[in-house]
Amino acid sequence: MTQALKEQTVNKDWVTLCGIQDLVANSGICALVAKPSEQGEQLEKQIAIFSIPDSEEKVFAVDNFDPIGKANVLYRGIVGSNNGEPIVASPLYKQQFSLKTGTCIQEEAEIGAYPARIQDQAIQVYI
Ligand code: FES
Repeated sequence: MTQALKEQTVNKDWVTLCGIQDLVANSGICALVAKPSEQGEQLEKQIAIFSIPDSEEKVFAVDNFDPIGKANVLYRGIVGSNNGEPIVASPLYKQQFSLKTGTCIQEEAEIGAYPARIQDQAIQVYI
């Protein structure tokens, strides 16, 4: 059910998930987002939020679920860049996912990537 959140969520909006003081530079944290689906049921999803101060965007939000390792682990991945693309490498099998698009660089796989922004002192994700 959790994986359906991106597809099924209606009324997308900017959601405050944490404050900038919760972020660790060049590292990830995890937040649990709950939103009602079209059918009115409550859908929950783990979102990994990364702070990359040297990037233009500063913050990135992607699914925490690693579709290859099949576990909620991506927030613990190592961040870096691949040809200038900010990525997170899964702590399980080391595949790299673009933090901008969610596309896996080594394999045919994809995770959800969500617009993220810093608003005042808050980290907001469009989901
Ligand atoms: S991510 Fe769970 S043990 Fe490393």
